[in-house]
Amino acid sequence: MKKPQDVLLPVVREASGDSPEQSAVSRRTACQFMGGATGMLVLSGCGDGFSGGSVRPKFDMRPADMSLPDLSMPDLRTPDLAGADLRGVDLTVQDLTAPPMDMATGCPATGINTLKRPSQFLINTATFFGAGALPSFYVCRDNAGLFAMTAICTHFGCQTQYPGTGMVITCFCHGSQFSLTGQVVRGPAGTPLNHYAICQSFQGHVVVVHTVVSAAQRY
Ligand code: FES
Repeated sequence: MKKPQDVLLPVVREASGDSPEQSAVSRRTACQFMGGATGMLVLSGCGDGFSGGSVRPKFDMRPADMSLPDLSMPDLRTPDLAGADLRGVDLTVQDLTAPPMDMATGCPATGINTLKRPSQFLINTATFFGAGALPSFYVCRDNAGLFAMTAICTHFGCQTQYPGTGMVITCFCHGSQFSLTGQVVRGPAGTPLNHYAICQSFQGHVVVVHTVVSAAQRY
């Protein structure tokens, strides 16, 4: 009985054009063909114990590195402060909201633009400004620089007046008087006038913001 590769040999030889002298090559080709077709079977009569399994695979079949990347996340949970000693820790919630800006002036939108330049405020004078629903104020200058302060008397809230150069700021409701830096000169008012913040607009004008600042602040 003929072996499969012997049956296939004439077909392979005819297809490849092998001469009889090349029959060994053709026989090997037939063995490779049969080996490939039958998988890992060892074909008897192939002489060298050839098997389809000796065909070099086209792909690297070694086990791939299937280890997963480290996806562990840091623990971002709020630390448990229960029992912690928080004495001396300032837990006040800070207001980080920036005040709205007036894009025309570059100052806070609540600022009142005096439309005057700093140089227009002379030393030892107080220039009065109304501010609508906000407290009226003075812009003043002393030897240290420019500043602003309320024009509302600290006694009962009347509006004070500045009579002119060389005079003191006076409240005619009950006669209180204030120096040009806002200090009480005469009662019944008992507390000085609050000072306000100042900023300068893009046009160089003095803008007063109704934020109370230190009486020592100068601009
Ligand atoms: Fe100004 Fe009384 S309100 S002195």
